[in-house]
Amino acid sequence: MEPNKAAPTLIDPELYPYCDKGLEGIVAFSSRKSFIDGAKGELIYAGYSIETLAEHATFEEVCYLLWHERLPDQAELDALHAGLQAERGIPETVTAYLKSTNPKSEPMSVLRTAVSMLADEDPDAEDMGAEAQLRKAIRLTAKMPTIIAAFDRVRNGKDIVTPLAKGSTAYNFLYMLNGEEPGSHAERVMDLCLVLHAEHGMNASTFTARAVCSTMSDMHSAVTGAIGSLKGPLHGGANTAVMEMLMDLHEDTDIVAFVKGKLERKEKIMGFGHRVYKTFDPRATQLRILAKDLAREVGKEYLYHWSEAILKTMKEEKNIDPNVDFFSATVYYSMGIMPDLYTAIFAMSRISGWTAHYIEQLNNNRLIRPRQLYLGAKGLDWTPVEAR
Ligand code: CMC
Repeated sequence: MEPNKAAPTLIDPELYPYCDKGLEGIVAFSSRKSFIDGAKGELIYAGYSIETLAEHATFEEVCYLLWHERLPDQAELDALHAGLQAERGIPETVTAYLKSTNPKSEPMSVLRTAVSMLADEDPDAEDMGAEAQLRKAIRLTAKMPTIIAAFDRVRNGKDIVTPLAKGSTAYNFLYMLNGEEPGSHAERVMDLCLVLHAEHGMNASTFTARAVCSTMSDMHSAVTGAIGSLKGPLHGGANTAVMEMLMDLHEDTDIVAFVKGKLERKEKIMGFGHRVYKTFDPRATQLRILAKDLAREVGKEYLYHWSEAILKTMKEEKNIDPNVDFFSATVYYSMGIMPDLYTAIFAMSRISGWTAHYIEQLNNNRLIRPRQLYLGAKGLDWTPVEAR
């Protein structure tokens, strides 16, 4: 019996009129958090273009914008900074877990487990009230950089650096990662990366967060699921994969032949293509400039040249443009950050968008429960195990 071959006759077009694989054509939510015009290459967070935010906003201002759908005044921004600073510490149980991890563990897997553990000591864990949601959003945003930096220190045999009760998220992350306070340029670059990765419509991880939320489950569960979704190489995991690809190249590599070879073998070039953008991702435009400057600063200009050659070949061969993950890899690498941390840094920023969507979903909730097109058989007779 080959049930799938018989499937078309079993489909009832009245019951299942349309199946959209990948949900490409489905609008399942309304949101005030962000807007993408994929044809024009435009991205807006709650009214402000990504270019405006990249020029003027800090990550903390973007967090406030996403959570409240307006910019904070000075007192509100100061209060948010103070709230984040006060919440940077992580529970002893999480520190003990990080110390017990295998140094070869994948950072996103460790982050996923550690974030899930945070619920255990969060006094608001099961409180579904609006104020508790905001407190949890601040706590998660404050603690994720501490977890990522602590894991990196531990796996490299270094002491964990206690977060400072001062400074920005970007500043503290670099401080905890490197054990020394960063210069203002490094802080600004990291801050800009956080601004650029904070929010992006109904991407797979945000969808995951909203789907978990729609069952009225707690914020930690939604964020844990979102981290798992972001980890995949078709989503946030692409930035690490881009760096691995660049690290496989050397000065004699014929980049055109390299790209063509991959395409002929039907392999994806990581950091290219997008479900929504049909032109240059505007975040890639910003990161391209940063990548060029930083690679030159640290004497790794070859990385930028290789990236540009890949970009040109992809455009000529497939007419596909880069996404946010392509140049961010060179930016982080030039900052001396280990490639396998890049997706976790993405998560450290996207927590603002996930939690904003979680709160928005909760305020206008309906269970997310699509249908499936059944392709299997029906009415089979039972065969006892000894007769199969
Ligand atoms: N390299 C080579 N070919 C590609 C690529 C790529 N990176 N992306 C798309 N294509 C081709 C694909 O092979 C297909 O060609 P054809 O029609 O000839 O079979 C066509 O473009 C459509 O691609 P698709 O995979 O059906 O498009 P999708 O909308 O389902 O997937 C995507 C979007 C992002 C998963 C895909 O472009 C991809 O796998 N890119 C590489 C991974 C990546 O960089 N992911 C990060 C996405 S942006 C940041 C984020 O959200 O995390």
